[in-house]
Amino acid sequence: MRFTQLMSASIFLSLVVAVAVPLGRRDADFTSVRRKQTKDMSGKRGDPPGKYFHESIFSEHELGYSEQKTALRNLMQTFLATFNDLGVETWLMHGTLLGWWWNKRILPWDSDIDVQVSEASIFYLAAYYNMSVFHYQSPRIPDGRDYMLEVNPHYLNREQTDRLNKIDARWIDTESGLFIDITTARYNLTHPGGEGMMSCKDGHEFRDTYIFPLRNTVFEGVSAKIPYRYTYLLREEYGDKSLTDTEYNDHMFNEEKMEWIPTMKDMTLQKNN
Ligand SMILES: *[C@@H]1O[C@H](CO)[C@@H](O)[C@H](O)[C@H]1NC(C)=O
Ligand SMILES: *[C@@H]1O[C@H](CO)[C@@H](O)[C@H](O)[C@H]1NC(C)=O
Repeated sequence: MRFTQLMSASIFLSLVVAVAVPLGRRDADFTSVRRKQTKDMSGKRGDPPGKYFHESIFSEHELGYSEQKTALRNLMQTFLATFNDLGVETWLMHGTLLGWWWNKRILPWDSDIDVQVSEASIFYLAAYYNMSVFHYQSPRIPDGRDYMLEVNPHYLNREQTDRLNKIDARWIDTESGLFIDITTARYNLTHPGGEGMMSCKDGHEFRDTYIFPLRNTVFEGVSAKIPYRYTYLLREEYGDKSLTDTEYNDHMFNEEKMEWIPTMKDMTLQKNN
């Protein structure tokens, strides 16, 4: 670990779930930092050697409904607060952007978080913050919790043909193993669409004027940024109905509370399924 930066969270973190159970849909190869790890759950055994970040062999159903919500919220809040402090621009995309559109929160049925950075930012993060650990403490996490930023060395490979390394960095809760995937949006100098086209290694493409200038907003109670033409991007990716349908995945949007409410009564008591 190159260095440890201590920070007290400016945000109010809620108490995180019990950590004895392996958590998370996917999992970094973080056996070196995970304290309570006894078994290799990283899934790397089945992966080709060129792949840096490994998918998890944890079941995504390990976490209960409200535990998952809390865990993802903590990850998001600490991630945004850290990047705000570092002055590194990052913006919400895909399902996370859709959650922002409805009520500035993570969609309760979403099992992951999508954020992007520019190519300049990933170079900066790789040069100065790879494997940095950030400690967050708050009244509700009196013991504090360590989060680590890990940058994929394949961030230097710009090509979509590098299919094993679509994820350029990860923000990892070192105790639970839950993480956020960070992808880079790169200018594509050979795109037939001409100047200003950007590509991600996961295949997503857009014009830079849809992203920049980024708009300032709030997400999960923390300062965040979203693409300039967010409505266009959401319509294109999820269809018009995604912005108007108030019933989705066993949830109904309550306009008064501005909240997605589960329609199955005992959902909050259940494990996800
Ligand atoms: C970050 O550090 C890890 C662990 O030392 C290393 O495997 C990886 O290649 C580094 N990433 C970059 C971008 O240097
Ligand atoms: C640029 O765009 C083309 C067309 O979509 C794609 O095939 C190519 O992989 C992209 N290049 C990069 C560096 O992303």
